[in-house]
Amino acid sequence: MKSVLFVCLGNICRSPLAEGYAKHLAFANVMDLKIDSAGTGAWHVGEPPCANSVRVAAKYGIDIADLRAREVKREDFTSFDLIVALDESNYQDLKRLGATNLVKLGDYGYGGKDVPDPYFFDGFDGFDEVYKMIESCVNTLFSVKSYTKDSG
Ligand code: 4NP
Repeated sequence: MKSVLFVCLGNICRSPLAEGYAKHLAFANVMDLKIDSAGTGAWHVGEPPCANSVRVAAKYGIDIADLRAREVKREDFTSFDLIVALDESNYQDLKRLGATNLVKLGDYGYGGKDVPDPYFFDGFDGFDEVYKMIESCVNTLFSVKSYTKDSG
């Protein structure tokens, strides 16, 4: 079975959205794929996703409320086929920690832009934009990697 790990900084805003959307896509396409997420930082270990991420996911019919944050660990680099960083700083941190099977989500859409960290955003609108970026890039990533059943 193929496996993908999405990694951001806190594992409470962006990567849980990526995990939730990717699982939704995998389920809809009957793909046999292990999907998880983690953070490079440990501040929020054990916590659920932030309220705005839960809310924006629910808006698109995805329930991420039961996810819990965890810190990325070295074993992840061998136990997952692919590590997906949400932004350049996550990418550099993961590279420093020894990840080689590493890509950046923004390389699969939105002109290579980072998925911005919405943690310090004021309102909900930024989360909607972040969700749309994640949705579009995960669609392309899964298609490029032939994870979707109609991607050849
Ligand atoms: P995330 O957002 O990386 O998208 O989960 C953050 C959440 C928490 C912190 C930073 C980013 N923090 O510094 O606590």
